[in-house]
Amino acid sequence: MAKQKLQYVCQNCGAVSPRWNGKCESCNAWNTIVEENPGSGIGGAAKRMVGKGRIMELVPMQGESPEAPRILCGIAELDRVTGGGFVPGSALLVGGDPGIGKSTILLQAAARMAKAGRRVVYISGEEAIAQVRMRAQRLGLGDAPVSLAAETSVEDILTTLEAGTPPHLLVLDSIQTLWTSQVDSAPGTVTQVRTAAQAMIRYAKKTGTIIILVGHVTKDGQIAGPRVVEHMVDAVFYFEGEGGHQFRIMRAVKNRFGPTDEIGVFEMTGGGLREVSNPSELFLGERKANNPGTAVFAGMEGTRPVLVEIQALVAPSSLGTPRRAVVGWDNSRLAMVIAVLETHCGVKIGANDVYLNIAGGLRIVEPAADLAVAAALVSSLTGAPLPLNSVYFGEVSLSGAIRSVTHTQARLKEAEKLGFTLATVPEATGDATAGQKGIAVNSIADLTSMVARIAASAPQRDA
Ligand code: TYD
Ligand code: MG
Repeated sequence: MAKQKLQYVCQNCGAVSPRWNGKCESCNAWNTIVEENPGSGIGGAAKRMVGKGRIMELVPMQGESPEAPRILCGIAELDRVTGGGFVPGSALLVGGDPGIGKSTILLQAAARMAKAGRRVVYISGEEAIAQVRMRAQRLGLGDAPVSLAAETSVEDILTTLEAGTPPHLLVLDSIQTLWTSQVDSAPGTVTQVRTAAQAMIRYAKKTGTIIILVGHVTKDGQIAGPRVVEHMVDAVFYFEGEGGHQFRIMRAVKNRFGPTDEIGVFEMTGGGLREVSNPSELFLGERKANNPGTAVFAGMEGTRPVLVEIQALVAPSSLGTPRRAVVGWDNSRLAMVIAVLETHCGVKIGANDVYLNIAGGLRIVEPAADLAVAAALVSSLTGAPLPLNSVYFGEVSLSGAIRSVTHTQARLKEAEKLGFTLATVPEATGDATAGQKGIAVNSIADLTSMVARIAASAPQRDA
């Protein structure tokens, strides 16, 4: 008998090596390499293929193609992240920590679509039918005509689906539990996940069914093993939320049919996930007039302006190396803003502990938040509360200058809508601030002028 050729596959990045190693050479992760049998699946040895294929037709790029039709699921926040509804025949991956609410939101979406008259199949590999039914009842969706199954075998699932009319929507919860007898590896390994996902995606393309795959995320924030699935699917969404907060954010990280910077905001309630259509109100929290250390940032999430409260606490440190703790923002960005404040504005923060928190569990990636962060830091350090009616946005450069950012109009409009009357913005913004009636614009060219203004309103302290 011919000796079976084994290969060693990293479960983190999918790299293949000829022998076992403690550490993956490709992604440097430890203990992630598993022995797998490539068999006839993908990753199997390449054969000489020229002369065996057929001649295909090459077509010019110009030409008519119908606009991809969309199917709305009826949950507006979800339809927003998908870029205006699901595209038939597409495969989506929804990733997130265990318990964040992936099964809940997908069951809600499935039920909505089923109630709108679409054929919907929900296959759970993690929960028994009774559990899914109980959850549906709890969500008040017990009467939705969704077809359920608790199954993990790809062959059984495909045979069942092919025996009937293809559904409009198929939810597979989760990709890690699926397995196919085509490959020898255990369920959840890269080879299994890849082969199973490929079979399901092929089914989607063939029949026009929308497939949603659920993927769990490992501790380091990557979908376990199924990182390899990310590039096979048409769209990847992450469902996230800070522990302890009831808010959940659906974020697109890849989307072949729409933008990737949109977010959908939800709130986890006793009756499932509720849409939050005005996130600004949620992220602003309850603010009090004489609280130093909080600044309101007029930010953008995709095409939607979102106001969010930034909280800073600058406290004397008893440690040799002061603490820097950041929730919801970039650590190195904070270090940069502190360095600019110290070097160019004479603000002595260095010896203090600095805590920074973005209210509501939002994670901000925009550099435009620099100015609001700086304002919150200075306010906390000096004990001078910032005006309650004021918003901030602008990028701080290393020279201490304030650089302009995009979407000035949209940010100002949102601030005005929520009752703010003063905005501190980059001077270079120029014309974009014209035409705002209800909001006074305070244009600044560098950080020093803002720091001076805040410090001037500080209460006198005895030395
Ligand atoms: P779930 O959708 O099972 O998470 P995932 O599929 O991402 O692992 O969500 C489970 C959590 O959601 C659980 O901790 C309970 C909570 N939950 C509610 O708060 N309200 C509800 O109506 C439901 C169904 C779940
Ligand atoms: Mg689940």
